[in-house]
Amino acid sequence: MKIPAPIAMLAELTHRCPLSCPYCSNPVELARQDSELDTETWVRVFDEAAKLGVLQLHLSGGEPASRRDLVPLVQAARDAGLYTNLITSGIGLTERRLKELDEAGLDHIQLSLQGTTPEMADEIGGYNGGYKRKMQVAEWIGQIGFPLTLNAVLHRRNLHQLPRAIEMAQEMGARRIEVATVQFHGWALKNLDTLMPTREQAREATRIVAESRAALKGKLVIDYVPADYHDDYPKRCMGGWGSTGLNVAPDGQVLPCHAAQSIPQLEFETVRDKPLDDIWYNSAAFNAYRGTDWMQEPCKSCDRKLVDFGGCRCQAMAIVGDPAATDPVCIKSPHHGALQAQADTHASNTDAPLVYRTMPGKKEVEPTS
Ligand code: SF4
Ligand code: FES
Repeated sequence: MKIPAPIAMLAELTHRCPLSCPYCSNPVELARQDSELDTETWVRVFDEAAKLGVLQLHLSGGEPASRRDLVPLVQAARDAGLYTNLITSGIGLTERRLKELDEAGLDHIQLSLQGTTPEMADEIGGYNGGYKRKMQVAEWIGQIGFPLTLNAVLHRRNLHQLPRAIEMAQEMGARRIEVATVQFHGWALKNLDTLMPTREQAREATRIVAESRAALKGKLVIDYVPADYHDDYPKRCMGGWGSTGLNVAPDGQVLPCHAAQSIPQLEFETVRDKPLDDIWYNSAAFNAYRGTDWMQEPCKSCDRKLVDFGGCRCQAMAIVGDPAATDPVCIKSPHHGALQAQADTHASNTDAPLVYRTMPGKKEVEPTS
């Protein structure tokens, strides 16, 4: 099989973040600040990524604005010829810093939205006053003229706010909104009972997205990640393992997806020891689930195997305990019925408290309301 070059790289610059969202996709074992790659190493990695064929660089975290060297990092990425997208909660960005990022050549901003009201956003983010600051940042983004995507993460607690989130994207002048129903990896797995949408909510969200797409055609692009536990077919996770994208963790480990460290069978190489192209083409972790040779039945003989590549390896690991199993979201998986029943049970538990993300050594976050 000829391995294509990756198109996109997600650089998780840090796991530090002022927010504590209970669905954070960072691993439960967060990387400490003293293990983070330094500026010089990131600059080398951006250069290696561009040479490997990467076109788009997504600067993420944690909160990437927590890195003091964010502006020089953006500058270096642009110098390497990469298209740069900053994925941020907005907290930590001042008007001056945004102007510096603009001068450094930042191409695009993706702003997260925890809720459409201060009460909801501050409770979900675990950060008092976060919504107000985010709205201020959104205004500066508009004034400077950055192309903007609003990223609304939705779950049982805030799915009723979806219509307002779509309105807010238009008010902010965003070109795109990503309506992302929470995916259960990382910290979200600790919050299945609080965040799992009901089947009715999942259906309603799909209806609202379809209607809004028709009504806003040519004005706002709506990307949609549905509530897959309630679906019959899985998502094509990462566009297929090791096919289009790679993630670099704050400490330099190179991962085929953000949750790959949850698969204990895999060992990951680091940019501290090896060049990025060697890791992409030759590492055991990237080759583990490339293509279709690793598949078991029912995927192996399924006519959709090149459509979804068997779904998500990390979800198969988390639910079935076997990363090479068919994603149990799939109707052909022997675990599909049990998964749907579990989803309904999680969705009906109304008493569970939110479990917030915490850095090691940091005290637990108290809910803001
Ligand atoms: Fe996809 Fe596998 Fe299900 Fe077929 S059996 S639809 S390849 S997950
Ligand atoms: Fe790892 Fe889907 S998140 S393969």
